[in-house]
Amino acid sequence: MSLDSRRRKQPIRNADSRIPRDKSAHSKKAQRKYKVGILGATGLVGQHLVRLLADHPWFQLTEVAASERSSNKTYAEAVRWHLDIPIPASARELVVKSLDPALDCDFVFSALDSSVAGSAEESFARAGYPVVSNAKNHRMDADVPLLIPEINAAHLAAIPVQQKNRGYDHGFIVTNPNCSTAGLVLVLKPLADAFGLEKMFVVTMQAVSGAGYPGVPSLDILGNVVPFISGEEEKMEAEPQKLLGRWDGSRFVEAGLGISAHCNRVPVENGHLECLSLSLKKIATLREVREALRNFTVSDELAALPTAVKNPVVVLDEENRPQPRRDVDAGNGMAAVVGRVRECPLLDVKLTLLSHNLLRGAAGAALLNAELLASRGLLTRSRVAASDPAAVPVTQAAE
Ligand SMILES: NC(=O)c1ccc[n+]([C@@H]2O[C@H](COP(=O)([O-])OP(=O)(O)OC[C@H]3O[C@@H](n4cnc5c(N)ncnc54)[C@H](OP(=O)(O)O)[C@@H]3O)[C@@H](O)[C@H]2O)c1
Repeated sequence: MSLDSRRRKQPIRNADSRIPRDKSAHSKKAQRKYKVGILGATGLVGQHLVRLLADHPWFQLTEVAASERSSNKTYAEAVRWHLDIPIPASARELVVKSLDPALDCDFVFSALDSSVAGSAEESFARAGYPVVSNAKNHRMDADVPLLIPEINAAHLAAIPVQQKNRGYDHGFIVTNPNCSTAGLVLVLKPLADAFGLEKMFVVTMQAVSGAGYPGVPSLDILGNVVPFISGEEEKMEAEPQKLLGRWDGSRFVEAGLGISAHCNRVPVENGHLECLSLSLKKIATLREVREALRNFTVSDELAALPTAVKNPVVVLDEENRPQPRRDVDAGNGMAAVVGRVRECPLLDVKLTLLSHNLLRGAAGAALLNAELLASRGLLTRSRVAASDPAAVPVTQAAE
C-alpha cells in the first residue's frame, strides 16, 4: 500500500467541520458550469487542480496549457502523473495548448513556473480572462489581491483599481500566497483579531513537493536537510504583511509586523511544518490562545463555497503532533493543524503548525479563491454571457 493510500484510510481530524462538496443550494439549479482553463496543467500544482476540478459542482475543465514540450499532445500523453488516483477521464483527452490567450474558457488558473507566469498571466488578463494564480510573480503588486478568503476577502475591492491601472477590460489577476505563508497566516489571523500581534519568529521544515517536479535532486535531500530555499524567507517575511493588512480604497496598507523566517527543505513528501514563536499585544493565557484558534470559523458566505472548511484551524492536544504523515490531510488538506501551544521564554507563545503545501498552499487555495470570485459574480466573461443568454454561469443563474 502506498503512503498516500494509507493516509486516505486514516480518519480525517475534525471531520465534523468538513462541508459536503455539493452543498450549495444554487448549484442544484445550475444551467451551466463555468468553463475553466489551467495554465501549467502538467505540473504538480496543475495536476492537483485537474483532480479537484474533476467533480467540481461549479467548474468544468475545458482547456489545459503548458510548455512547448507538452503542447499538441493529449493531456494523458504530456503529463507525468504523480497522484495516486488515475487521470480523470474528463482531462485525459484534452489537447494541451500553448500559452496563447485564446482558450475556450471563462477564466484560467495559473500553475505556471515563475519563469513564464508573470508575462503569461498579464497577457491572459489583458485578453479578458480572470487569472487565479499560484505563482509568485504578481503577489506583491500594488493593485493585485493576495487572497486567502478566510483572511482578507475585502482585498477583492482592489480589482477595479487594477483593471483601471492596467487598462484591463474584464480580465484581472488574483493570487494566492506562497505555500508556507498560507498555513502560517491562517493561524495568525484569529490571534491577530483576539490579541493583536507584535512580532514573530518562524522556522519551517518544508516538503520536497513544494519545489515542483522534479524538484530537489534525491542525492541532495535523502537523509539530509537543506537550510536554504531560494527567495522563501523573503516571501514569508513580506506576504503576511499584505495578507493581514488592509485595502484602503486605493492601496494596500501593510500590517507592520516584525517577522523573521528561517526556511529549510526536509525529506518529507507533502506538508510544511513550521515552528512559530510570537509576541502578542494583549496578555493572553495559553488556554485563551487555544480557544481563539479553535473558535476560528468562517462566515456563512465562505461556508457555502464547495472547497471551504468551516474550521480552517484544527488544534491538537497530543504532545507530538502535528506530523506531516498523520495530519497533512486534515480538512481535506485545507486546514492548518496546530499543536504544542506553550509559553515562549523569549516572546509570549510558541506552537507548531502544519499545512498541505499543494492543497492549502496551492491548488486548493486557488480553487477556493475562484469559488469566492464566482460567488461574488466576478468571473463572468462578458462576451460569453452576452453572446449566449442560456450560458449564464452557475452562481448567477441561481439568483
Ligand atoms: N509545489 C508547491 O507546493 C507550490 C505551492 C505554491 C505555489 N507554487 C507555485 O505554483 C507554480 C507551479 O508549481 P509546481 O510545483 O506545479 O511546478 P512544476 O511541477 O515545475 O510545474 C510547472 C508547470 O509550468 C509549465 N511550464 C514550465 N515552463 C514553461 C514554459 N516556458 N511555457 C509554458 N509552460 C511552462 C510546465 O509545463 P511542462 O510540463 O510542459 O514543462 C508545468 O506545467 C509555480 O509558480 C510555483 O512556484 C507551488
